[in-house]
Amino acid sequence: MSILKIAKLGHPVLHTKALAVKKLPNPSINTLVNDMSETMLDGKGIGLAAPQVHINKQVIVFRAPTEKENEQNTIEITALINPKITKFSNETNDDWEGCLSIPGMTGLVKRYSTITYEGFDMNGNVIKKDAEGLHSRVVQHEFDHLMGIVYISRLADNRAFGFTDEIQEYWKNHYEKE
Ligand code: NI
Repeated sequence: MSILKIAKLGHPVLHTKALAVKKLPNPSINTLVNDMSETMLDGKGIGLAAPQVHINKQVIVFRAPTEKENEQNTIEITALINPKITKFSNETNDDWEGCLSIPGMTGLVKRYSTITYEGFDMNGNVIKKDAEGLHSRVVQHEFDHLMGIVYISRLADNRAFGFTDEIQEYWKNHYEKE
């Protein structure tokens, strides 16, 4: 396994649509998923999309922390290949997001509250899930990367984006009191 170099905002790969993976299982995809997982954990992220490591393929990894994870003190990582979001709730909500490609910064992002997504695991088995909360948010964020979209295009308020320490001082302390 290896830690991969992360593309930062400004690199064109972050604004390019990723291509579908054609064959599963596929040893090169297994290696990519393992390396992306290691890279995500190293960066203390909760999700990572292949374009962020300069690979133009529809592969994402993410953590959706569960109670089971807390109880067993383990980290569960989901790898999702060729994902599609098939249902969106009418309801949306705003919450703070960061991105390993935009280090040191934070933004308030509007997302659908619940979604249904589909895709494949590394063995080519179908994954289909309903997601809410952080799970729903992280999948939408990573799916956007595959479409060449970064979260700053989806800010709930143009002013609610900036360096994490300033946001903490001037937005979060205030926002969370309301
Ligand atoms: Ni990101």
